Amino acid sequence: MEHRFFAAYPPPPGTVLEPSGATLGPLTGLRVAVVGYGTMGRANALNLRRSGIDVVVGAREGLKGGQRAQSEGFTVLPVAAAVAGADVVMLMLPDTAMAAAWERDVAPHLKPDAAVGFAHGFAIAFDQIRPEPGRSCFLAAPKSQGDLLIELHAAGRGVPGLLAVTDTSPPATWDVAAAYALAVGCLEGGGFVTTFREECVSDQFGEQAVLCGGVIELLKAAYDTLVDAGYGPENAYFECVHELKLITDLLHRHGVAGLRGRISGTAAYGGLTRGPRIIDDAVRARMRDVLAEIEDGRFARELLAEHDKTAGLAAEEAAGPLARAAGPLLARLNPGEGT
Ligand SMILES: NC(=O)c1ccc[n+]([C@@H]2O[C@H](COP(=O)([O-])OP(=O)(O)OC[C@H]3O[C@@H](n4cnc5c(N)ncnc54)[C@H](OP(=O)(O)O)[C@@H]3O)[C@@H](O)[C@H]2O)c1
Repeated sequence: MEHRFFAAYPPPPGTVLEPSGATLGPLTGLRVAVVGYGTMGRANALNLRRSGIDVVVGAREGLKGGQRAQSEGFTVLPVAAAVAGADVVMLMLPDTAMAAAWERDVAPHLKPDAAVGFAHGFAIAFDQIRPEPGRSCFLAAPKSQGDLLIELHAAGRGVPGLLAVTDTSPPATWDVAAAYALAVGCLEGGGFVTTFREECVSDQFGEQAVLCGGVIELLKAAYDTLVDAGYGPENAYFECVHELKLITDLLHRHGVAGLRGRISGTAAYGGLTRGPRIIDDAVRARMRDVLAEIEDGRFARELLAEHDKTAGLAAEEAAGPLARAAGPLLARLNPGEGT
């Protein structure tokens, strides 16, 4: 049966699909292989199963991902076998492992009509994978971290998602993408139509400039400034790090303007007058540099060549003043959670 969730095929960028506009129909009777059972693979597999979809997991033998999937009740197969039996293959591998896995374990084993899905645009946008023209390839990128996606889906909720399909995919791929997004819980609040490249560039820029780069360095710099000036580390931690959650919760619910009206007058005046001195034109210029490195492929090349350095860099950070101060405070504030 044909499903038509969009008014036009391909839907123009900027189209928003409401959850009520999609059904699981395009996945009915199909088998989905989730390849890779890390953070996002696990979230996809668990949410698909909760939605009643037939799921198997493809994983490397004897390693952590496959063992966890088995202990959580999934049929776990070697990647090539999982791919060979699937109608939809969801590639949930590290972005840096996609090219090799595609060549060896995925492309040679795909059924002629199988669709291939991704949760992030990197592999397609930066040519890690070049599917043959006519192959259905879609992006269903949840705007969430994996564990949160599981938690929200279990509570009957979800997150927004970004949807895309490659230029040479058959038009019906859009409906598979939408049904998939509905099944994993990333259509709540809308499925926003985009492209692999736009999702990839904006996602990586957001991670680097704000979420996982800029904000963390801002916190470290602010913490160090107070401690170096003789203020207590606990005080510095509470003011510069712990309270960030209260502010981001307000931001999430009420936006920037709504946030300003819900904080003290002192905080609003201080923030509005001092914030632009911290994030000044020089910072904005460096943000443009970081964006250009992503756009022209320099970041992709560096990531593929240097990603083995990540663990060492994280260990260096974990030995720094802010991370060391966080340990005992977090044990007190969130007992049992660990750092
Ligand atoms: N993490 C998130 O919250 C998040 C959010 C949005 C999008 N994404 C996207 O989701 C995708 C998956 O990311 P992730 O964070 O879930 O990665 P991850 O946590 O690092 O998990 C990757 C999984 O792939 C397995 N693996 C690695 N190399 C493999 C290979 N050659 N063959 C088969 N299995 C292999 C690993 O298992 P073993 O080592 O145990 O075999 C692991 O289970 C990426 O495209 C990422 O950009 C992730």
